[in-house]
Amino acid sequence: MKMTWPGEFGRLSAVLLAILLRFTFQGAYCQLVVSPAGPTLVNALAGSNVTLAVSFSGATDPAVTWFMADLPVVTWAITSGAPPDIADNRDKVLRIETDGSLSFVNVPLEYTSNYTIEMTKSGLGTSSTTFTLKVFDMIQDVILKAQSGSAQEGSDRFTLQYSMLQGVVEDQTWFFSGMAIKSNSHYLVEERNLVILGPNRSDTGRYTVLLTNPFSSVTTDTNVTVLYGPDEPVLEARPARPFYVKGDSLSVSWQADGFPTPTAEWVFGSQTLSDFPQGVLNLTNVQTSQGGVYTCTLLNEETREKSQKSIILNVYERPSGDPMCSVQSVNNVDLQYLCRWSGGTPQAQLSFPALSNTSSGAGNLSLTVTASHNLDGKPVKCVADHPVEPNNCSITAGSPRMFLPAVRTTVDSDGKIVVTIHCVSEASPQAVVSWSRGSEAVTSTTPYQISRDATQLEIRDYNVSNFLLQNYSCICRNPLGSQRREIQLRGPSISDSSLFTNHNGTIVTLTWEVPPTSIVTGFDIQMKGPQGLSRNRNGTQTRGSSNTFHTIQQKPGAARSADIFNLDPKLSYSFRVVPKARMTEGRPSEVQRIGPGEGLSGSAIAGLAAGIPCGLLFLVLLAGLIYFCVYFNKNKSRQAKYPKSRAVEKVVTTPTETTPHNLLTGGLKSPPDYNRLQQTPSERSVALPAFVPPPPVRTATTV
Ligand SMILES: *[C@@H]1O[C@H](CO)[C@@H](O)[C@H](O)[C@H]1NC(C)=O
Ligand SMILES: *[C@@H]1O[C@H](CO)[C@@H](O)[C@H](O)[C@H]1NC(C)=O
Ligand SMILES: *[C@@H]1O[C@H](CO)[C@@H](O)[C@H](O)[C@H]1NC(C)=O
Ligand SMILES: *[C@@H]1O[C@H](CO)[C@@H](O)[C@H](O)[C@H]1NC(C)=O
Ligand SMILES: *[C@@H]1O[C@H](CO)[C@@H](O)[C@H](O)[C@H]1NC(C)=O
Ligand SMILES: *[C@@H]1O[C@H](CO)[C@@H](O)[C@H](O)[C@H]1NC(C)=O
Ligand SMILES: *[C@@H]1O[C@H](CO)[C@@H](O)[C@H](O)[C@H]1NC(C)=O
Repeated sequence: MKMTWPGEFGRLSAVLLAILLRFTFQGAYCQLVVSPAGPTLVNALAGSNVTLAVSFSGATDPAVTWFMADLPVVTWAITSGAPPDIADNRDKVLRIETDGSLSFVNVPLEYTSNYTIEMTKSGLGTSSTTFTLKVFDMIQDVILKAQSGSAQEGSDRFTLQYSMLQGVVEDQTWFFSGMAIKSNSHYLVEERNLVILGPNRSDTGRYTVLLTNPFSSVTTDTNVTVLYGPDEPVLEARPARPFYVKGDSLSVSWQADGFPTPTAEWVFGSQTLSDFPQGVLNLTNVQTSQGGVYTCTLLNEETREKSQKSIILNVYERPSGDPMCSVQSVNNVDLQYLCRWSGGTPQAQLSFPALSNTSSGAGNLSLTVTASHNLDGKPVKCVADHPVEPNNCSITAGSPRMFLPAVRTTVDSDGKIVVTIHCVSEASPQAVVSWSRGSEAVTSTTPYQISRDATQLEIRDYNVSNFLLQNYSCICRNPLGSQRREIQLRGPSISDSSLFTNHNGTIVTLTWEVPPTSIVTGFDIQMKGPQGLSRNRNGTQTRGSSNTFHTIQQKPGAARSADIFNLDPKLSYSFRVVPKARMTEGRPSEVQRIGPGEGLSGSAIAGLAAGIPCGLLFLVLLAGLIYFCVYFNKNKSRQAKYPKSRAVEKVVTTPTETTPHNLLTGGLKSPPDYNRLQQTPSERSVALPAFVPPPPVRTATTV
């Protein structure tokens, strides 16, 4: 081996350095050192034997002191021969080994501590080392429960706490439904507790705690129920309807979460409704008084928490009957439309949309409008709005229709002629009737009497001439218009007469007609014949012969026919009818003849003689009549309604007249010359035997 200088020098330096170091650290090399001969953390089961083992070096026979925490519990000089000095109350447990290790016999729980061994040797200083001893026992009989009270939603916190009969816990872990719980804003894990901050219903469930130490582990669980609610209930009416009709049945149930299940109570008005088990409001045959606000109050019997909700139940009832429309006159100027449909719940809302958009009324509506022509004949509808049943009615206002006055003549108990004129015009609102005579208004002063409803004027006088001096008129008026009619009264007159015989000629029937405005209170049936026949008071017939007419019968004003009996068919007779207004006689009817001398009656001969020309005339008049009827029908809507004529029954239908029936001419056929009558009434007034007034009950003339 070849040795170079730097190599030899290096080796030499190292040897020298080693020698130097050896001498420099002579003292340190001899220092007392104590060190653990195993782990410094020792877990021990209570009651077991355990040793905190140490080893030392650098000195022989050092003095040893064990501290339990800061308290010296054992002091000894190793191999000194003297026994160790052990704290009095610990000598049953603590033993010191010859190497300084500390043994514990049947170590109790309270020996869990830090233990420090300190070794000293004069001249060699002090050395120490520290152990931690943890003494555990088996965890047993763990109980998990709420610290106080029950969990309740909305409260601040809820604490679960475990307790146990024995055991030292090194570690605790909490689980909720199997999931480990970590401390966070909701959970707080404290020494023996789990705190749930702001518990809510979702915290209901199984809580488990796992307790462990090196020698045992125990899990315990408990079920936690968080009390909550009642929530605000949801109310449901069955059947669900915006309103119910009186007599309906319904129920209202509630739905709300809560634990324990809340109990319900219903309040209507100020009244608590008690008889509803399960809280279902069950109403059968509801009345309108039961409509209103129902409040359901829920109570959590545990927490005494409440919640409530209201529902409005409308119970309606249709107003009875149907709406009634009418129209009235206001001061004969304005029209007041009325609509009425009262009762019901709620009241019907009434309106006349055609008249006003804004006016309406509950149950009763009256609307006054200015009468105008466009309302004449226009149906105006009243719309009656009611939730149960909409309805309506309609009313048409109309101006007075055309009409014909009716004239009736009677004789009163004083023997005065009573002429009654009746003016009725169909109108809506009802027409107000006013009367005038000539140009002056007629009021209810003698000889006039106006009926309460003004439709009838009664005139009383003894002298028929006084009736004929003036024309009367009536005006029927309502806000929409008026109709005026003039009545020209006529003296007693006969417009038409005829005669019929029975087959063997012993009985004749006279019939006649009277113009509608003629004043007639009775008729004299007169006869002329070579052998006139009359009946005396004893009922025996006397035969006489006369060439002048004499009265054989008197008939009341209502009569339109007379029968004459016991005629001799071999003889000739003439008959006529004299109309009378009390004492005043009118122009007699044409003379009707019967007898073998004529072969045929006068009228029959006249009928035959005029047969062909009259037939032609009849056809012409018939054509005219048809035209008139068509025209009449065309204008019927605006035509007056004529009172029904008194049917005149004829025994035999052999009309000898060639003029249309007088009803169709409206009684306008020219009367006999009454100027003459008026001028010289005495001329016409033939003194008659005692006048027998006809019964005043019958209508003499109708138009
Ligand atoms: C512990 O030590 C004591 C005394 O040395 C002994 O009697 C006992 O049996 C030991 N216990 C165990 C569990 O070893
Ligand atoms: C033991 O000592 C350690 C560290 O110095 C300390 O944290 C612990 O609390 C002590 N143990 C006991 C039981 O005094
Ligand atoms: C908790 O509840 C469950 C069912 O939800 C049941 O099986 C269990 O026995 C309950 N535990 C306790 C401690 O009541
Ligand atoms: C309501 O009451 C009627 C009779 O009282 C009964 O028949 C019906 O079942 C009840 N309905 C409810 C929901 O309780
Ligand atoms: C009602 O209102 C409508 C429009 O809102 C209007 O055209 C009509 O003229 C009104 N009718 C009445 C009678 O006011
Ligand atoms: C009837 O009245 C007229 C006119 O007023 C009169 O001229 C006549 O004398 C009166 N006749 C009777 C019977 O009173
Ligand atoms: C009555 O009326 C008729 C027809 O309108 C007329 O001719 C007559 O002169 C009137 N009489 C009186 C008295 O005014």
